[in-house]
Amino acid sequence: MVYQATASAPVNIACIKYWGKRDTKLILPTNSSLSVTLSQDHLRSTTTSRADPSFAKDRLWLNGKEEEIVAPGRLATCIAELKKLRKELVEDKDSSAPKLSTFPVHIASFNNFPTAAGLASSASGFAALVSSLAALYALPCSPSTLSLIARQGSGSACRSLFGGYVAWEQGVLDDGSDSLAVEVAPRSHWPEMHALICVVSDDKKGTSSTSGMQRTVQTSELLQHRIKHVVPKRMKEIEAAIKAKDFDAFAKVTMADSNQFHAVALDTEPPIFYMNDVSRSIIALIVEYNRVAIEKTGKRKAAYTYDAGPNAVIYTLQENVKEIVELIVKYFPQKDGFKDPFQLFAGGSVGEGRVV
Ligand code: DP6
Repeated sequence: MVYQATASAPVNIACIKYWGKRDTKLILPTNSSLSVTLSQDHLRSTTTSRADPSFAKDRLWLNGKEEEIVAPGRLATCIAELKKLRKELVEDKDSSAPKLSTFPVHIASFNNFPTAAGLASSASGFAALVSSLAALYALPCSPSTLSLIARQGSGSACRSLFGGYVAWEQGVLDDGSDSLAVEVAPRSHWPEMHALICVVSDDKKGTSSTSGMQRTVQTSELLQHRIKHVVPKRMKEIEAAIKAKDFDAFAKVTMADSNQFHAVALDTEPPIFYMNDVSRSIIALIVEYNRVAIEKTGKRKAAYTYDAGPNAVIYTLQENVKEIVELIVKYFPQKDGFKDPFQLFAGGSVGEGRVV
């Protein structure tokens, strides 16, 4: 008998940023966040897991290279949590179910995009890992329950368990059992939404999210203001904008939150700079594009957002994609190949999370 399952999960890009942990072991955030899950066609991780009693130990390969699984690290924690659920929810309830929780697993994961490019590979990676083990173990669990485990791999990964528009509710409990992802709206609610990924640099980032955000928690006063007085209001605003399909309001909040996230990075001691000159030029271009749009129609047509790196993601509606791609290509001429200073992935439409 072969016990094996494959699942894939897409990348998500936050509009309201997660930055800061109140518990670094359980990965509990200092604020709620909200993201849009991109389509699987462009950026996804695909993971196959196999359980076999003849394996000597749990092993994992990422893009063909073996990664060590060290307890109590993030990988070991996720695998142990899923084995525990297999035992409690399947094997203890049905004595004829194979005791897969006692078999070592071999896991192989591939990204269809460069892992080091700072394009949220840990989010899709841990979401695919959790989905594939959950399928292997036939766990009768909702995506929100699985998000509790993906969260312990990488915080942002919990949001990739859903497609469409997803909130990660920070929760209040010390054991983290209420810090999970919930669907705000499915992709079908607002299918016109598109994300353009502009790869400014595929260098590995200078300061990782994990270490950068802890430095911010320890040293930034601005972060305390953000957590208490800014994010709760913005979560309400962006959820309302998504529900009403109000792109202008969505864009306003998304850009403001990207700006404030980079402001708290700068307010960290020593300061962290994630954007570069090209990133800032793209901001200037989108600001000017929106200025003209507001003059004509009173509404914004595009929103930029940046994570812990220089690459831009531009949210816009389908009707503006061609115009924006042409504008970007005009001001930032493209060369062939991923190593070039600027590459645009057009048409990263919002997609569904999916188990294959
Ligand atoms: C800027 O989820 O990568 O992309 O929980 O330490 O693994 P860890 O951090 P990670 O941080 C993502 C930060 C961000 C914002 C976001 O995705 O919300």
